[in-house]
Amino acid sequence: MNDKRLESILDEQRVFPPNPEFAAGARFDAERLAAMQAAAEADHDGYWAGLARELLHWRQPFTQALDASRAPNYRWFADGRLNVSENCLDLHLAERGDKPAILFEGEGGDRRRITYRELTAAVCRFANALRAQGIEAGDRVVIYMPMVPEAVIAMQACARIGAIHSVVFGGFSANSLRERIIDAGARMVITADGGHRGGQIVELKKATDKALADGCDSVETVIVLKRADCGCAMQAGRDIWWADAIEAQPEHCEPLALEAEHPLFLLYTSGSTGKPKGVQHSSAGYLLHARLTAELVFDLRDDDVFWCTADVGWITGHTYVAYGPLAAGATIVMYEGAPTYPDGGRFWSICQKHGVTVFYTAPTAIRALMRLGDDIPAQYDLSKLRLLGTVGEPINPEAWIWYHEVIGKQRCPIVDTWWQTETGGIMISPVPGVTPTKPGSCTKPLPGIAADIVDEDGNSVTEPGHGGYLVIRKPWPSMLRTIWGDNERYQDTYWKKFGGRFYVAGDSAHRDADGYFWIMGRIDDVLNVSGHRLGTMEVESALVAHPRVAEAAVVGRPHEIKGEAIFAFVVPRGPRPAGDEAAALTAELRDWVAEQLGPIAKPDDIRFADNLPKTRSGKIMRRLLRAIARGEEITQDVSTLENPAIIAQLRGEA
Ligand code: PRX
Repeated sequence: MNDKRLESILDEQRVFPPNPEFAAGARFDAERLAAMQAAAEADHDGYWAGLARELLHWRQPFTQALDASRAPNYRWFADGRLNVSENCLDLHLAERGDKPAILFEGEGGDRRRITYRELTAAVCRFANALRAQGIEAGDRVVIYMPMVPEAVIAMQACARIGAIHSVVFGGFSANSLRERIIDAGARMVITADGGHRGGQIVELKKATDKALADGCDSVETVIVLKRADCGCAMQAGRDIWWADAIEAQPEHCEPLALEAEHPLFLLYTSGSTGKPKGVQHSSAGYLLHARLTAELVFDLRDDDVFWCTADVGWITGHTYVAYGPLAAGATIVMYEGAPTYPDGGRFWSICQKHGVTVFYTAPTAIRALMRLGDDIPAQYDLSKLRLLGTVGEPINPEAWIWYHEVIGKQRCPIVDTWWQTETGGIMISPVPGVTPTKPGSCTKPLPGIAADIVDEDGNSVTEPGHGGYLVIRKPWPSMLRTIWGDNERYQDTYWKKFGGRFYVAGDSAHRDADGYFWIMGRIDDVLNVSGHRLGTMEVESALVAHPRVAEAAVVGRPHEIKGEAIFAFVVPRGPRPAGDEAAALTAELRDWVAEQLGPIAKPDDIRFADNLPKTRSGKIMRRLLRAIARGEEITQDVSTLENPAIIAQLRGEA
């Protein structure tokens, strides 16, 4: 981390005290929050053990909270047993069996209302179908689905029988899917013929077939949901329709009492180098934090309608669609399609139609909708909204204020929630009704989350405005347990930097005079496009896989809507193209990357050069490239460059 990036350039002074009306009805007040903080500080393990007993239903109680004997592979509540699906479904049946669990809207406008009783029955039938196909506890099942209720049903069904799910975002390509199937050694893929997105049909089964055509020998069965009715090939002996798989299955399936540490799921996320990491989460610790934060941060009550707009392919869609709110007995909204289809009013129309009270989305969506103007949301009745949230990247104060004024009508608190795939749930966030908010700050760590900012030597950075490494000093229940199949990478990535003393998040941050946290970005080279982390390496590998590309380096540059845009510097094979030829190759490479990795990874800019700037050890000079991509002045020493003339090429001047 260079010193420059540690300085904060943002100087946001506005403070928004809690709305007294909201505070009057909120689940948590200042006193209760302070008591939780004090309890966690006095006895960290005891604090979490108390919550685990209060909020989770155990089949076999645990006797020890934290087991640090294999640190940094920490274990929580390890001798206890429970079932996640039972906690999310069965336990609600007596009190709220007829309450809607899911309010679904398809992109085409089709709607479904699924009660807790119906959802439980559907999960049981599908769990029985998985068993009938030979799936047992510990088997990996890849879920590659559109954003429809069956995605949640599949996840919950896996949880019920102890199968480990690995959801792959439906926007990822066949190549990305294949890589994840192979790494996890999945026995089954659950997919759909297609899904609806932006007026198009995304042909998921076709991509699945392409992925399975090459090296996915572990896969025995593919279950296919008919969703888009777009027709697809079915391979005899391997593929089975969802409807046929559940046909003869009973509506009861006894939830398996699993060890607290049984892996609930893997979720692949980008690293700065090499292949994606299979982040492995536990059952009990994960569910505890998912439920706790659903109540603490989103203030969920029985009459709430909670809409987290994230796809189940991302961690946000795991924790705040498929698990947390269901464990809390809430009603959730699920929407299949694009936020701007058929027009920019879709999100607000869904809020109006379904009576959404708590709305959680990403800054990238907020910025995109903000750009469309205030008169679009003005056409909808948003009066039921009482709380707004954001996640995925720092929200710029301008977007925060727009969200606050135009969507929240200055009435709804905003929770800016910092967390990661690895943390399992929200770590740093305001508690609505209690914490005063500042646009752009995720405020303070939740009770029991020992977040800190440290310098290179691991000392706390306390001086306001000075940045450092964001770390977590104590293990917490929903932390990742390891990287699937690569524990060494787990230790290296998250613990090595400070000798195992604390978890290193990989973000830089600073604190202000009030102790508020301000996230500054990723320390490594990972890109954050539209709230999704993408490794530069992956995009580079995809580019280099093209026959016309010799070498490539990818950096991020700020982008008004997406947060970061992808800027690729490419060394072509053969002569450097110019004019129309360069434009044609640019278009071809952009499509190529989209095909290889998914549309999200498509470079926004491509510039051709005869060479890339490298250090003596052969490492690409990324800082230099970043400065060029951003049009900034070059402050680095370029005297060691073999061919200084390439600077002009990289700048697009020659
Ligand atoms: O850099 C931080 C940013 O997103 C990263 C985690 O990305 P991912 O694992 O894909 O999970 C996203 C959804 C939890 C973090 O390391 N990030 C996430 N939330 C915020 C944020 N940056 C600033 N403010 C946030 N609220």
